[in-house]
Amino acid sequence: MPEAFHEEEILGKAYDSRLMRRLLHYLRPYRGVVALAFIAIFFYGILQAVPPYLLKLEVDRYLDPAGRRQMPHFLLRLLSPNPFTGILEIALLLLLPCVLLAFALEFGQSFAMQLVGQKVMYDLRNQIFAHLQRLQISYYDRNPVGRMVTRVTTDVDVLNDMFSSGVVAIFGDFFTLLSILVVMLKVNWKLALLTFSVLPFIVLTTMAFRKAVRESYRRIRIAIARINAYLQEHITGMATLQLFNREERSYEEFEEINRAHMKAYKDSILAYGLFYPTVEFLGILAVAIIIYRGGVMSLRGAVTLGTAMAFIQYSQRFFRPIQDLSDKYNILQAAMASSERIFKLLDTPVTITDPEKPRELPEVQGRVEFRHVNFAYQDHHLVTENVSLVIEPGETVAVVGHTGAGKTTLTNLLLRFYDVTDGRILLEGIDIRQLRLRDLRSNFGMVLQDPFLFSGTIASNIRMGTPWITDEQVRRAAQQVNILDFIESLPEGFDEPVKERGVTLSTGQKQLLSFARALAHDPRILILDEATSSVDPETEALIREALRSLLRDRTSLVIAHRLSTIQNANKIVVMHKGRVREVGTHRELIEKRGIYYKLYQLQYKDQELPAVRSET
Ligand SMILES: Nc1ncnc2c1ncn2[C@@H]1O[C@H](COP(=O)(O)OP(=O)(O)OP(=O)(O)O)[C@@H](O)[C@H]1O
Ligand SMILES: [Mg+2]
Repeated sequence: MPEAFHEEEILGKAYDSRLMRRLLHYLRPYRGVVALAFIAIFFYGILQAVPPYLLKLEVDRYLDPAGRRQMPHFLLRLLSPNPFTGILEIALLLLLPCVLLAFALEFGQSFAMQLVGQKVMYDLRNQIFAHLQRLQISYYDRNPVGRMVTRVTTDVDVLNDMFSSGVVAIFGDFFTLLSILVVMLKVNWKLALLTFSVLPFIVLTTMAFRKAVRESYRRIRIAIARINAYLQEHITGMATLQLFNREERSYEEFEEINRAHMKAYKDSILAYGLFYPTVEFLGILAVAIIIYRGGVMSLRGAVTLGTAMAFIQYSQRFFRPIQDLSDKYNILQAAMASSERIFKLLDTPVTITDPEKPRELPEVQGRVEFRHVNFAYQDHHLVTENVSLVIEPGETVAVVGHTGAGKTTLTNLLLRFYDVTDGRILLEGIDIRQLRLRDLRSNFGMVLQDPFLFSGTIASNIRMGTPWITDEQVRRAAQQVNILDFIESLPEGFDEPVKERGVTLSTGQKQLLSFARALAHDPRILILDEATSSVDPETEALIREALRSLLRDRTSLVIAHRLSTIQNANKIVVMHKGRVREVGTHRELIEKRGIYYKLYQLQYKDQELPAVRSET
């Protein structure tokens, strides 16, 4: 079993007081409604014992002369002496209101609790999403997307089941059981005990049922998680899958996972299929015993006819809540497991947060300093080692180096997507960990290697919800990065819808939009990570031209593979295997004949090759 699914394996207890207390906390804002639901279900439970008793009254008072003699005096006085009026009274004045009231109470309870369940789900989902937003990026490196989606959807749904049909309904069944039990014992304890004689068998059946369902439930959970993960990955990678003609293989893999899911369900279907008829059978057995014993006792005059008849009804009513309770047990168990997973997510500590006593950031000039920075994503494998680097206000500093040298990592650290393992990063001389995240990040504009667009419109993707950016500024930013013509050629211009992840745009177009996005926000410090890697040389030249003026009074950190784009930088930093190996201007580094020189030579050669060929 892949490690990724171990969380789904948590089975947990059906009742865990620690989890339950925490869950009930979510009911707090709605405690008034919940209290009403409890009161309703309490009376509903009591009402369940009434109809059989009314039957007994009718039979004993009006239909069986022997019964009347045994009736308590106050009941005799309560009902009319005329049998026809009396029977009408019982039906119309006692039974009907009782049934109507039970109906109203059940409706009220179920409506209230469904409503509360939805409200709790709403609160919980908001809370989980808010927490996800605060979690550091390293959490997302470790946890697959599918898992988090499952937490916010499936797991929350399961909790809803518990709130809406579990918690209160359990008490409902319990009250029903209790009131029937009390009345039975009170009316005739011998017959009552006879009814209960099948209980041990029911307990045994229930235990076996729970065990089977529990195991099958665990396997279903794992299978669902695997199906989700498999679908997620293979739908995202559909083009690659088709390219490599993997359809058949993938189909077989999927079929296997899917089959495991079906098999797991088959077991639970068998368990349910056996359990309900068994309990039903035992219940009917109890009724049969009562029909026989009650009949005999009634013939011998030990009980009235009314009592015998009422007991038949009681024994029928007695087993329904028991059956329900085992179903509720499964709901509870699922809810405990889900809440365990949800709380685990909610309890994941947010390690990158605002400091307790944040320092105020002075007017940002744009001085950035890395001081002996060590960093490892995981374990102890250092990705940057003793990196020191100063960017003075207004300077353009370029970072170059091989793939995987640690360039993007530097920007991740600067924006506190990750925190340094050792050393410090300073903005205006202040350790960035002493600043509010919002203060820190709002000073940076960033164009990424892999731009991300949200569904919305072109304009909304440039503005990113920042209120002070005017339409004019959005337009100007687009113009500066030379994408205005393209936008205006779209049917709806700036209001053209952008699909999820910007799938309808080319990578270069996405990059330009993300460029415009950064510029529109007019940041003090601009970070460009391979920002023009996907646009054609002509567009790149235009952007570079535009940037020249834009970068003039701005600090910028430019990461580039194409060395031709950074020759004018004030400083070029050469990273190699996580270390800063060379620092200087283009000219200085060329003269040094070190790593930069080699990189430059290589690229120079690459660029010249086609030209050489075309000449020959
Ligand atoms: N989220 C991550 N978790 C673990 N390791 C990572 C993570 N991101 C990057 N790395 C590792 O850190 C090292 C540096 O990666 P980084 O992205 O900083 O390289 P880069 O210099 O930007 O490369 P490129 O030029 O390809 O963009 C690489 O060896 C990479 O495998
Ligand atoms: Mg990179």
